[in-house]
Amino acid sequence: MCGIIAYTGNKDAVTVVLECLKKLEYRGYDSWGIAAVTGDSISQVKRVGKIGEVGISQVKEAIKSENHTAIAHTRWATHGGVTQQNAHPHLDCTGTIAVVHNGIVDNHDELKGGLAGHRFISQTDTEIIPHLIETLAKRMEFGRAAVEAAKMLNGRSAFVAIDSKSGMLIAVRKGSPLIVGVNGAGAGEFFVGSDVMAFLDYTNKVMYLDDGECVVTDGSGTAPKFFALDTGKELQKRVVDIHWHRGSAEKEGYDHFFIKEIMEQKHTIAAAINQDDDKIMAVADAIRNAFGTFLVGCGTAGKVCMTGEYLFSRIANKHINSVIASEFANYQHYLTPRTLMIPISQSGETADVLEAIEVAKSKNSRVISLLNVFGSTMMRASDDFFMVNAGAEMAVVSTKATTAQLAVLTLLAYAAAGELQEGKFLLMNTAGSVNDMLNPRYEEHIRNLAVSLAGKKDILIIGRGLNYPIALEAAIKLQEACCIPAQGFAGGELKHGPLALVEEGTPCIAIVANDETKNDMLGSVMEVKARGGYIIGISPQSHSSFDYWLKVPDAGNASPIVNIIPVQILAYHIAILRGLNPDYPRNLAKSVTVK
Ligand code: G6P
Repeated sequence: MCGIIAYTGNKDAVTVVLECLKKLEYRGYDSWGIAAVTGDSISQVKRVGKIGEVGISQVKEAIKSENHTAIAHTRWATHGGVTQQNAHPHLDCTGTIAVVHNGIVDNHDELKGGLAGHRFISQTDTEIIPHLIETLAKRMEFGRAAVEAAKMLNGRSAFVAIDSKSGMLIAVRKGSPLIVGVNGAGAGEFFVGSDVMAFLDYTNKVMYLDDGECVVTDGSGTAPKFFALDTGKELQKRVVDIHWHRGSAEKEGYDHFFIKEIMEQKHTIAAAINQDDDKIMAVADAIRNAFGTFLVGCGTAGKVCMTGEYLFSRIANKHINSVIASEFANYQHYLTPRTLMIPISQSGETADVLEAIEVAKSKNSRVISLLNVFGSTMMRASDDFFMVNAGAEMAVVSTKATTAQLAVLTLLAYAAAGELQEGKFLLMNTAGSVNDMLNPRYEEHIRNLAVSLAGKKDILIIGRGLNYPIALEAAIKLQEACCIPAQGFAGGELKHGPLALVEEGTPCIAIVANDETKNDMLGSVMEVKARGGYIIGISPQSHSSFDYWLKVPDAGNASPIVNIIPVQILAYHIAILRGLNPDYPRNLAKSVTVK
């Protein structure tokens, strides 16, 4: 949540941070702001809304001169409404210190109490940071003051502060992500971003800033210096080359990232299973030998974890657990050094998952992450990791990362069953079927359905077995993109409550896979139909009870992958018909770095 970028170097800093900030918009898009060191003061611009279409000329109307040091921020509001005043950066009383921040200052009220006489103009927790630095800088130099201020903050935070008097820039990491980019061997241009995606177009050379550390530059082009916050000790850091082809972060002719990323599934499923066999076998062995394996994730990734539980039971005859990351601490009593935790995360930055990893580590359990973003915090927090290779996913609503995660888990389950090649064969065929499926006629057929559903006040989704978690995931797609209170259920649960929601014309999406759940699913469909429900069947075969049929390939154990795709397309088109921007769902952000 919230994206931060800072730059100091020989280019026009405002132009650079504006470009980089656009790459971070998925982290928050309520409002944005840029501040730059201009002579011995700071000039800034802040606006409500998305940074997306803002051009450099609009920014230059407010920040006229060329600058070599600038910071920028795209916001997902926590404290204080969405207003220009609450947008970052925030300044001190003298207007010479500016701060951008990601996180929550839990003790901001208490700290504010000690800042009598300071002029606050926003309702944010962040604004206390520049004022704290201002106060401390009366007795010590700016960098030291920023460190002392950071030590006083409770909660997860990351911030960058600039000081126009000294020309210094300091970035502090205390629980929220920040990564440093450099141009050359550590000197010259210097970037700090919430993630590597922010500055990857400028440099692939990074230096990792860990929790409890800060990095300082005086803007003169000399190498940045890293320090431990608590001891003040200088730290030696290596420059690491990131060889990650994140794919294009542009829309490439599509109207939205959402539909572009849905269409990219023609290739991403095949890319996901393009794994090193030895590595997959090693992870499968780790699962086989662990005394308890936990798949852990949030949101869509949480539903993927749940599907994994079914996949392992069905394919590998092995029980593994899936837990929502924010609930994982409740399972700590079951964790031992023989436990294996597999966190699954697209961003690799989700705070709840990172906290779950800390819980596992505190019990000396082993952690192997399944990730999509190279260099992410989770990658570095884990004992080992492997990638789903989906490329940059920009739409907040996850699509291609989801099916890539599902493909890798299916492959792992086959590997754990000693049938890796069978798994590959199935998934290669599935990738081919998805390629055939994603054609304009199919999309048009789904768009026609979207027209009849766009005005509905609710939608039910039912599934069983492997496709029960997919019914839950389908509900998330419709909630996020379309703001429809869609709900997913296990087919068997209908009669225990949800049937009371069905009235004449209530849309019900039924995922009817061609497996042992089929007859029971058709029974559930009849229960809904008998009460007036309008049945949308997602299935390889049509059935007389379906009012609308969304045909999917018969993918066997890979059915979760093919079954979610028509719902992704449906959610996209309903969102458009409802006048919503499907890339930026209301109140949400892609990278959720607060608890
Ligand atoms: C947010 C996103 C979801 C995502 C979830 C977990 O809620 O909107 O699409 O599934 O975070 O994110 P992660 O990056 O950990 O997969």
